[in-house]
Amino acid sequence: MLQRVDDIVNGFLNDLNDKKVLELYKEITSGKKLRAKLILKIAEQSDEAYVLAAIVEMIQVASLLHDDVIDDADTRRGKKSINALFGDKTAIMLGDILYSKAYYELTSLPEFVAKSISNAVTRLSIGELLDVELSKSFNKNRDRYFDMIDKKTASLIEASAESAAYLCGKDSKKFALYGKNLGLAFQIIDDILDITQDAKTLGKPALHDFKEGKATLPYIYLYDKLSKDDKVKLENLFKKDLTNEEKNWVITNMKQYGAIENSLELARDLAMEAIQSIKEYKNIELEKIIQDMIQREY
Ligand code: IPE
Ligand code: IPE
Ligand code: MG
Ligand code: MG
Ligand code: MG
Repeated sequence: MLQRVDDIVNGFLNDLNDKKVLELYKEITSGKKLRAKLILKIAEQSDEAYVLAAIVEMIQVASLLHDDVIDDADTRRGKKSINALFGDKTAIMLGDILYSKAYYELTSLPEFVAKSISNAVTRLSIGELLDVELSKSFNKNRDRYFDMIDKKTASLIEASAESAAYLCGKDSKKFALYGKNLGLAFQIIDDILDITQDAKTLGKPALHDFKEGKATLPYIYLYDKLSKDDKVKLENLFKKDLTNEEKNWVITNMKQYGAIENSLELARDLAMEAIQSIKEYKNIELEKIIQDMIQREY
């Protein structure tokens, strides 16, 4: 199933008739393909659903190429990132090539789908911009965090679910809500994994968010709970390269104050809401995607 998605993406890239692009693309390993799986499970693997899945996975890769430049990340999917291997300029342009080819291919799908997906990429980019803005100082505002992750991550998952539903005549509004809540939960889990997992398991840098100025949900919870003195201590660690002792201090306090557990609880609630919105379809596989997403290790 997912092999066919890869084949379509490779076909799209072959169309470009450019050896350099193919050479660079070869350096990128496969990801989990959550968005493709979601589309194929909702739209029941029609030909159009496969094309949509391939387009969305191309967009996903493009967004990660740019994200690794923004986050100064040197690993991705267990290998050196494109920016680490060939520099930021190459990573940015390869991202642009994948984005623009994805839009070109979108024109072969119904207008509703083309609009939904292209609008999601605008929202994703606004979300990344907001993430950059929020990283300038320690953000302690939960609403701003949620607004940012809604845009940078939930938007594309929401549009994928909505578009897949549209392609097979299901209620696109209900599936959009399913995708949005799944997307929010997905990013919260990603933010938790940055704290709880090691780099090898993640295939990308670990405990890297806070150093990059990203005060994710567990940090916001932790800050709320800490004593006055410890609040100052946490603020002083913001954007710093942490020593092992400092890392242990952060993780121990996260555990002690239930910052991880509370964040996980919120992700689980959102996942439950997602399941609720498509309950009538009794699609066990879509519920399983949510379970796997909550329990994932990377
Ligand atoms: C990474 O997405 C970016 C986020 C939205 C957290 P994935 O975790 O789906 O990345 P891949 O495609 O599986 O590598
Ligand atoms: C998600 O944010 C990035 C995109 C939506 C492109 P992150 O910066 O947390 O993603 P990872 O952790 O690098 O995969
Ligand atoms: Mg990143
Ligand atoms: Mg990022
Ligand atoms: Mg992350």
